[in-house]
Amino acid sequence: MKKTLLMLMAAGVLLTLYGCSAEAVPEKQDNEMKIGITVYDRYDTFISEILKDLNEDVLSARAEAGQEITLEIYNSSQSQSTQDDQVEEMIKHGCDVICVNLVDRTAPSNIIDAARNADIPIVFFNRELVDEDMLRWNKLYYVGADAFESGIMQGELAVDIIKNENVDRNNDGEIQYVILEGEAGHQDAIVRSENCVNRIRELGVKLDKLGYAIANWNRAQASNQMEKLIKNHGDKIEFVFANNDDMALGVIDAYNVSDIPRYKWPYVIGIDGTEPGRAAVKEGSMAATVYNDARGQADAIFNLSKRLASGESLEGLGLQGDKYIRLPYRKITKQNVDSFKD
Ligand code: GAL
Repeated sequence: MKKTLLMLMAAGVLLTLYGCSAEAVPEKQDNEMKIGITVYDRYDTFISEILKDLNEDVLSARAEAGQEITLEIYNSSQSQSTQDDQVEEMIKHGCDVICVNLVDRTAPSNIIDAARNADIPIVFFNRELVDEDMLRWNKLYYVGADAFESGIMQGELAVDIIKNENVDRNNDGEIQYVILEGEAGHQDAIVRSENCVNRIRELGVKLDKLGYAIANWNRAQASNQMEKLIKNHGDKIEFVFANNDDMALGVIDAYNVSDIPRYKWPYVIGIDGTEPGRAAVKEGSMAATVYNDARGQADAIFNLSKRLASGESLEGLGLQGDKYIRLPYRKITKQNVDSFKD
């Protein structure tokens, strides 16, 4: 995030982050369109990329179409009650649409009730509500991706590597692996792990699970957890599947401080294709990753929000079941990594 902020400042742009106080917020102008957005944690690398892309969308809409659009951005710092309060603030500030990256995807009730009472549509994104909650009002939308697809792609990328490289170092006909998982209960964690492993097996590769750890999408946590796994399994681990790039990078951090020689490191594969993730694929420390389309999701959130705010038809936005926009994942390898530019 620090890097993102520096980049935006260098471009003459400042991403405004609001707390919960009304004082800092300039009064809404008559012709102004205000989009409120709250994220579960602005230090999450993938989420910070979506924020950066959204900010760019707003700037180009201002520059190209002369539209008076403002983004009011809040960080919930992983507290659902803070996020609930932030939505109340956005309503008070006259936001025309509210975008929510839920802290607890099973607890959207207060937010939905508040927005419905004020008749302000909500675009949820990245942390998916259960269907029942989505059906509670007709002005609720979701922008994200299909977790199972990323798991399948991760599995296929792994099989390509296993078939072409010397992964099975101990020649026992099985791949000894560990998994680093995102937050328990997040739709992208369990589903990615399951689909990755199932796809590898479907494609005829035998697997031997040595262990797993939950590291909540976080690089430092992944590094700590991986240090423990290395202590338990030494140089036996041949492959590490991480539910996202930050955790994959944490795994590599742990090997960098271990005494295991480079040629005995496992192959490490992530998901997201964030800037640091792509750099690691390019440089070779990460074997591959799966692109989680931050740019596409930001564009979808922005275009949907604009239409909702101005009351225009939602036709042509690719909504499924009138509520969902899901962006496809793509495989990233060393061969095509350069085509994924910001
Ligand atoms: C996932 C993403 C993770 C993390 C998480 C937050 O889709 O792959 O890196 O950002 O969302 O909800």
